[in-house]
Order: sequence, then C-alpha cells, then structure tokens
Amino acid sequence: MRPRPLIPREDLARRVRELGGSIARDHDRDHAGRPLVLIALMDGAFCFAADLVRSIDLDDLTLVFHPVRSYRGTESTGTVACEPLSGLAGRRVLVVDDILDSGRTLATVLAAVARAGASSASSCVLLDKPMRRVDAGQATADYIGFTVPDVFVVGYGLDHDGRWRHLPDVCVI
Ligand code: IMP
Ligand code: MG
Repeated sequence: MRPRPLIPREDLARRVRELGGSIARDHDRDHAGRPLVLIALMDGAFCFAADLVRSIDLDDLTLVFHPVRSYRGTESTGTVACEPLSGLAGRRVLVVDDILDSGRTLATVLAAVARAGASSASSCVLLDKPMRRVDAGQATADYIGFTVPDVFVVGYGLDHDGRWRHLPDVCVI
C-alpha cells in the first residue's frame, strides 16, 4: 500500500526556509564572520540537507555528509555506528538529521563532534518524536521542523528498509 501524506511538500518547503533563516540569523548573532560546518547524517537527511543549505544565507558554510546507521526495518537496533570525524578542530558545527527518535543517534554524533575538537555544536532535525526519547533527560535538538506522533514516517529522504525515500511528502506507512 502506498504511504499516505502526513506533511505535504509545500509545508516542508516553507518550514525548511524558516529553519534556514533562523540558523543564519543565530549564526550571524553569536558567531559572526566565523565558518559554519554542517554535518548531514546519511542517508536519511539527504533531501532535508539539500534544501536546508540552499536557505542558509551565509558566505562561509561547508556541507559534509556523514554515514550513521541505527535502524533495521522499523525497529531501532539500539546501537549507533558512527565513523570518526575529522577536520573539525576549532569549528562551529551544526549536525543535521532527518528525525530525532530515541535520541541515540544525535547523542552519539554530538559526542564524536566534541571529540573531534569542535569549538561548539548545535543540532537541527526536520522531525521530532519526543515521546520516543529513551530517557527524559535526553537532549533535544536546537532547531526542529515539525513534531510528529509516534508513527513510522517515510519520504523526503526517510526510508523503510531503503524504500520510499523518493516520495516528495513526509508520509505514514
Ligand atoms: P534515534 O537514534 O533513535 O534518534 O534514531 C534516529 C534515526 O532513526 C534517524 O536518523 C532515522 O534514520 C531513523 N528513524 C527513526 N524514526 C524513523 C521513522 O519514523 N522513519 C524513518 N526513519 C526513522
Ligand atoms: Mg538517519
């Protein structure tokens, strides 16, 4: 059965533009003139990151894609595989992911970013499922596109076992 739309493409486009505006404004306010390194987590964040970078009006921005994996089907495996990061010493970093679920992926990547010597880091996710966090004290993201209920979503980069990433809307299976 074809997944049914939950967040239509027009709403995604509008919200992504707003997020890009906020990110640029905050960077200009707090880190004026300093470079910003965006680390987009593969594969899920590829659509979101592609649209987001085009709405961040900053001169000194680099985009890095980094592979991270924690899911098989619709179940989290509970372990997050994240290769070491390099070239971040003294850098201001923004980690970009598709969805914040248990919170393990973001926590693992932010720890790797800190180990790599970044001067500071914040995070941006398109979707947030707050009721799925493994413990209440778990960090949230600094920038959140939409809060969604506890349903498995696909489309706009998100997959179910590799399928449905190409759907233009965020959908429910
Ligand atoms: P976390 O480590 O549990 O927060 O999981 C985050 C990762 O799990 C995301 O980067 C997604 O790749 C994947 N994920 C979590 N929920 C969904 C979903 O509803 N659809 C597709 N992928 C999901
Ligand atoms: Mg992912």
